[in-house]
Amino acid sequence: MRFWTVLACLIGVASAVPAPAANSSATTTTLASTSASKQSSCQNPIVRKEWRSLSITQRKAYLSAVKCLMRKPSKADKTLAPGARTRYDDFNAVHIYSSNGLLTGTGGIHMVGFFLQWHRLFVWVYEKALRDECGYAGAHPYWDWTIDADSGVNITQWPIYDPNYGFGGNGDYIANLNATASWPIVPGQTGGGCVKDGPFKDVMMNVGPGESLTYNPHCLHRGLNPLTIPWLKSERVALAMAADTYLNFDIAMQGPQNLDPTTAITLFHTSGHYVQGGDSTDFISSSTEPIFFLHHTHLDKMYWDWQMKNASVRLTEIGGVRIPFHPESANVTLNDTLNMQWAFPTTKIKDVMHIQKGVLCYDYE
Ligand SMILES: *[C@@H]1O[C@H](CO)[C@@H](O)[C@H](O)[C@H]1NC(C)=O
Ligand SMILES: *[C@@H]1O[C@H](CO)[C@@H](O)[C@H](O)[C@H]1NC(C)=O
Ligand SMILES: *[C@@H]1O[C@H](CO)[C@@H](O)[C@H](O)[C@H]1NC(C)=O
Ligand SMILES: *[C@@H]1O[C@H](CO)[C@@H](O)[C@H](O)[C@H]1NC(C)=O
Ligand SMILES: *[C@@H]1O[C@H](CO)[C@@H](O)[C@H](O)[C@H]1NC(C)=O
Ligand SMILES: *[C@@H]1O[C@H](CO)[C@@H](O)[C@H](O)[C@H]1NC(C)=O
Repeated sequence: MRFWTVLACLIGVASAVPAPAANSSATTTTLASTSASKQSSCQNPIVRKEWRSLSITQRKAYLSAVKCLMRKPSKADKTLAPGARTRYDDFNAVHIYSSNGLLTGTGGIHMVGFFLQWHRLFVWVYEKALRDECGYAGAHPYWDWTIDADSGVNITQWPIYDPNYGFGGNGDYIANLNATASWPIVPGQTGGGCVKDGPFKDVMMNVGPGESLTYNPHCLHRGLNPLTIPWLKSERVALAMAADTYLNFDIAMQGPQNLDPTTAITLFHTSGHYVQGGDSTDFISSSTEPIFFLHHTHLDKMYWDWQMKNASVRLTEIGGVRIPFHPESANVTLNDTLNMQWAFPTTKIKDVMHIQKGVLCYDYE
């Protein structure tokens, strides 16, 4: 509850504070700040599929590539992410670094109008690393949790949590999570300790929790949470897909930009994180959980499907605040930039609006 209390207080305070002048994303960049607005031709987009549409061999290949990123040495800027030791830490660190400002209402990549575009590009950069650095031949899979939520199957039996062909299951049961957890406690978690089986049982995560980017090796924590299931059902997605404007679609995904945090569990961006429990419920370092990327790929697919329902309007429709909880701050425009820090050149929002144009080249099955 600490986090929510703190966040709720800060939102209250933040609304009284004048909005700092800032660009739509953090301005610090060390690798490059060239706009990657080159027109590349996208002849053969790779095709992203739902996790269970991958063959067992393909699932294992994906998981091996993620483990490969967890072994390869970090390339992050050590002045910004001193704790990063592996390529996986690098991506976690980009998300942590870029999320700074949420808790103080001064910046970051959540509860802002470019949330969907930033995470779209982030998954693309991660997918590129899996392919270019770890020999993964496929496209990034997505996890359509509506299939599981609608099925009525016990959460412990969901294929995504399979110990052999999935990401492994629950963490150890921790009786008094409130006293020990480093992430906000959401009621209903059934575990909370280190993941006990599957490919990520013994991995070391070196950054996080929260905003910490110093060296802090720790296991991957999970606490599968059945209380989130009602919010992950397909009828909820159908409501979002019916949204008439970009702002309403965005609200259906991540909540109103003056969000009352206690309702966040009812919104599927958040519930898709909370269902894993553990590290995944940490707004800032939720990317410690490898399922993060399959969840965000699914959100991106939903966004793309929604765009394609009225492409002539929605490929250029954008809006929402630049600074979280600051309705008076400037609205996001297509010329604003997305900053991946050291991981990728700064990219204009207009260059990620279409998934086969600008810097992107993929499709969805
Ligand atoms: C732990 O925190 C949650 C959220 O605030 C609360 O609902 C629950 O009662 C707490 N549990 C204990 C054992 O204190
Ligand atoms: C915004 O970005 C531009 C271009 O990178 C830079 O010149 C300007 O100083 C930035 N503004 C702020 C407030 O950081
Ligand atoms: C789901 O399975 C777990 C492990 O077998 C069990 O402890 C739990 O009670 C089951 N949940 C439901 C709702 O049946
Ligand atoms: C697309 O949106 C525009 C503007 O809201 C609307 O006039 C048009 O009917 C929509 N087209 C479809 C196919 O929904
Ligand atoms: C942002 O856009 C909304 C409408 O979507 C408008 O009401 C608001 O005044 C705009 N904010 C600024 C600072 O221009
Ligand atoms: C973006 O910048 C271009 C040229 O710099 C300008 O023509 C266009 O009007 C701008 N678009 C928006 C939405 O600000």
